[in-house]
Amino acid sequence: MNVLKISITTAVTMFFAVSCAQQANQPAANTANTTKAANASTAAPAPTAAAKDEMALAADLYTVNCMTCHKDSGKGGPVTVDGKKINPDDITTEKMAAKSDEKLKSYIADGFPDDGMPAFKDKLSDAEMVSLVKHIRKLQGK
Ligand code: HEC
Repeated sequence: MNVLKISITTAVTMFFAVSCAQQANQPAANTANTTKAANASTAAPAPTAAAKDEMALAADLYTVNCMTCHKDSGKGGPVTVDGKKINPDDITTEKMAAKSDEKLKSYIADGFPDDGMPAFKDKLSDAEMVSLVKHIRKLQGK
């Protein structure tokens, strides 16, 4: 578990490093390549993975992007991330199950920056966020 946490943290850190470098000083000609690499590290469906079951991909996306805070089960609970104590919500409640897909997607896209959840709209594609909503429905038993 700790090893997994570290490798997730490393992957996220690397992703930020790549994004920053890209914004800071990438000439336009290089941007295309760098963008491709950055997208690959967020587990964007690669051509070879296209055949992979969407739900398996969604579970991978959840593991990489959400599990540190919301736990495998989606039940969340107090956790320290990057030295900050936060209390990610249980996303499997009836209240959450009653929210529309669009609403859940907007939570993922915009995050809750004041409460410790980052916005994902610049990190994940629309299709990836749609897949994540499907994974949340699965966690909700829907
Ligand atoms: C760094 C920690 C962190 C990560 C990573 C994170 N979240 Fe969150 N999330 C939170 C916190 C904290 C809240 C509670 C925000 C609040 O109370 O306003 C939250 C709230 C939510 C909510 C709304 C729950 C409610 O009751 O309103 C949803 C849905 C959600 N997260 C889904 C996700 C998904 C899907 C991912 C991965 C793409 C993700 N989160 C990644 C910390 C995180």
